[in-house]
Amino acid sequence: MLAERRGLFIGAGLAYTPAMGMDANKSAVLVVAVALAACGGARAKDAPTPSPTSGEEGPVTWDPSWDHDEKADFMKAHVLPEMKPAFQAFSAERWDGFNCKTCHGDPWQDHPRDAIPRLTLKGGEFEVPEDEKPLVEFMKTEVVPKMAALFGQKPYDPATGEGFGCGGCHTVDVVE
Ligand code: HEC
Ligand code: HEC
Repeated sequence: MLAERRGLFIGAGLAYTPAMGMDANKSAVLVVAVALAACGGARAKDAPTPSPTSGEEGPVTWDPSWDHDEKADFMKAHVLPEMKPAFQAFSAERWDGFNCKTCHGDPWQDHPRDAIPRLTLKGGEFEVPEDEKPLVEFMKTEVVPKMAALFGQKPYDPATGEGFGCGGCHTVDVVE
């Protein structure tokens, strides 16, 4: 499993560690802690959690400590509305029916990496058919930065090895 998560992708002047998954990333927790501190202190355990859908007051970035329903609310309020037009702008045809299941699968998987296609990173490049190369570019330049922002993270940065990358959604198999 670990080997899967340690790829380094160099291409188009960008390097990606594909597997900067949310759950493997301590900086997510840090970012949230800082955000909470800035609003007057961390939330007490039993304090009511602000609902992600409670309007302007509601958080616009993810909190990994939310329960399942709170995460679903956030996805409805922010992830789907932002990601659906982005995917459809790239290909209205391919993502005509874009919805939660485009990322979560049918049958439903809590994490997209158990639902969407696995990626293979070989010799630092994603193995995709020639006609899928624009799609990889779209994932890098649109999907990763947007989703990183929604999760309150920076896009994967090769200089620090931190941030949200392909592995936040895909399982990545690294092949030498
Ligand atoms: C663009 C892709 C994408 C779309 C669209 C999307 N999600 Fe998610 N969702 C994710 C990712 C990535 C995670 C995992 C976050 C993490 O690592 O904790 C996630 C996590 C979740 C979780 C938390 C699961 C758990 O671990 O308990 C729920 C619930 C959820 N999504 C519901 C939804 C619902 C409902 C919709 C549609 C309104 C939706 N998602 C649409 C990408 C997506
Ligand atoms: C926010 C979640 C998310 C992130 C981050 C993400 N992807 Fe994707 N990716 C998807 C979804 C959703 C699909 C489409 C699944 C479908 O339509 O069945 C997809 C499809 C793909 C496909 C087509 C796979 C196939 O066999 O059809 C490739 C290739 C791909 N992504 C590459 C990447 C690369 C490279 C990165 C990092 C630069 C990346 N993705 C980051 C969500 C994501």
